Amino acid sequence: MAKLGVNIDHVATVRQARRTYEPDPVWAAVEAQLGGADGITFHLREDRRHINDRDALLLKATVTCKLNMEMSIDRRIVDIAVGLAPGQCTLVPERREELTTEGGLDVVKLARRVGPVVKKLRGKGIGVSGFIEPIPEQVRAAADLGFHAVELWTGEYAHARTPKQIQTALFRLTEAIDVGIDAGLIVHGGHGLTYTNIGPVAALEGFTEFNIGHSIIARAVFVGLREAVREMKALVSPRQHE
Ligand code: PXP
Repeated sequence: MAKLGVNIDHVATVRQARRTYEPDPVWAAVEAQLGGADGITFHLREDRRHINDRDALLLKATVTCKLNMEMSIDRRIVDIAVGLAPGQCTLVPERREELTTEGGLDVVKLARRVGPVVKKLRGKGIGVSGFIEPIPEQVRAAADLGFHAVELWTGEYAHARTPKQIQTALFRLTEAIDVGIDAGLIVHGGHGLTYTNIGPVAALEGFTEFNIGHSIIARAVFVGLREAVREMKALVSPRQHE
């Protein structure tokens, strides 16, 4: 039964559109938890375009479920993560021009920079996940670097349009899940998942956690965040709601 991590970055994005105090992502975390979120995910970006340092501190002080900090491997961000000590850090690639995280972190190419970051965070007792593409070589490299988990990029699946593309993307995810489990990793999934496309991914054996942001926050505009989370939670862990 997979758990649901709710990414609240977009709440801060709306706040930053007016550089004001509302809507507050810390309130969003409370509402998401009341809707049944198993985790709260936020990305403290180097440019602080949405979540800022104050949010990170207050989230750490108030979130009672799993707190997952998405982050780059920049030294200053790593130092903040060490001080904050969230339950989990998820290492992601970060480019200033991007709208959102695009694709996975290349842990094969960046092994020499990523390895020490994983070691440092894990040395502080923080769980470390790596957001990577569902490619066996990437998954094995993540295990070798000491990650406790990987979050497989589900973007290829989310962007697939034809039945063949969808099947290919699901096959790649299945294969990467198996490689991950064999290598002793916990396997999460995320990116581009919505109320309409989550079904086949949630049905795959092996995913233990999904991190979902945009679709939940978009729905929350109409039904409220608590209800939006409740509805996604029922889709992510269907058997729990039978
Ligand atoms: N997982 C990771 C690592 C991400 O970077 C993001 C986007 O911030 C998500 C999950 C959530 O993606 P989406 O907003 O498309 O649901």
